[in-house]
Amino acid sequence: MNIYNFDEHVNRKNTDCVKYDGLKKLFNVEDAKPLWVADMDFKTPDFILDDLKKSFDKQILGYPIITSKTSNSIISWYKRRHNISCIEESDISYTTGVVTALSACIEALSQEDDEVIIQTPVYFPFFSVVKNNNRKLILNELKNKNDYYTIDFDDLKKKITNKTKLLILCSPHNPVGRVWNKEELEELAKICYENNIIIISDEIHSDLVFKKFTSILHLDKKYHDNIVLLNSPSKTFNIAGLKSSYIITKNDTIKKHIDKILEKRHIGSINIFGIESIASAYNKGEEWLEMLLNYLKNNILTLEQYVEKSNLKIKFNSPEATYLIWLNFSEVIDTHENIQKRLLNNCKLVLNDGITFGKEGKKYFRLNIALPNDELLESLELLNYEFN
Ligand SMILES: Cc1ncc(COP(=O)(O)O)c(C=O)c1O
Repeated sequence: MNIYNFDEHVNRKNTDCVKYDGLKKLFNVEDAKPLWVADMDFKTPDFILDDLKKSFDKQILGYPIITSKTSNSIISWYKRRHNISCIEESDISYTTGVVTALSACIEALSQEDDEVIIQTPVYFPFFSVVKNNNRKLILNELKNKNDYYTIDFDDLKKKITNKTKLLILCSPHNPVGRVWNKEELEELAKICYENNIIIISDEIHSDLVFKKFTSILHLDKKYHDNIVLLNSPSKTFNIAGLKSSYIITKNDTIKKHIDKILEKRHIGSINIFGIESIASAYNKGEEWLEMLLNYLKNNILTLEQYVEKSNLKIKFNSPEATYLIWLNFSEVIDTHENIQKRLLNNCKLVLNDGITFGKEGKKYFRLNIALPNDELLESLELLNYEFN
């Protein structure tokens, strides 16, 4: 058994990473602790780094081709980790990131002025990919009961018109941390199926789960025709900088439309390292992932215990997935804007501003807890000093 050390401090300053080296440009601060963008302060696992180094042994970094080695690693991962056996090589397309895939799917599967539904608060590029493609954005707000979020199906049904063509599902959900259960997904799929709406399910966080994950592909085959699944090993294995992702659909016609756009935009391939990393992560990554999940669970426990014992005026619901915590600052008597300033200037902590995830994010900030436990504790002390 390998031992991976998630307690190790890795100096990321001056490595051209956006999380640290983008602070001045993006937040006008330099000496703050970055707890924002969704990558982890843990080392990318050695087995991936070693495989990437092997790419150099080829001595020529010319144009690559994606072979069955890559698709088989995806197919096998889904079988082993998620008990999904319906994926075939011909169902998979590749592109340079999940947001790129999302944009391509919107362009491929709807027309200008068609309506696209998203469920807010949600990962902010969901707004821009729809708007930038000149589609009409329809917001189906999630229901929030004590920071536990559920889908508002009544509102969803009311919002659907004959112009509604797509629904972008965030599964598991960033930032609210829900793993949608089978009943919720079935109800959603049924409504979309009856209204001829294609579900684009962004499952980039599906391996970072603390309870059983249900993929959209676990649903009955009759729904598969209306489903596109997007994923990447980037979040799970801390390789977001490699910009690689894949698209799975069981519907040949949908796949043809998507591939046409990938071709038109010249985004239907990935670089050598991105290709190598998919097979490396999915063929070798299970043991590392189990240890990572344990470490993240412990960090969440640290946060829960800290909030319980201290006077920190912050509430949250422990996530069912992701290392992102949706912190509720509503008990802090101050404006959202002032809280943001106090976080930056007094705590010297950079969290994601909740408003960027939708208007429901007022007085919420998203905290990234994928960092060594002692650094998390230090950050909590800083929060507590300011917000107790
Ligand atoms: C739900 C979701 N989708 C997509 C992405 C980004 O994917 P990519 O970097 O592959 O475009 C993120 C990153 O945080 C995310 O949370």
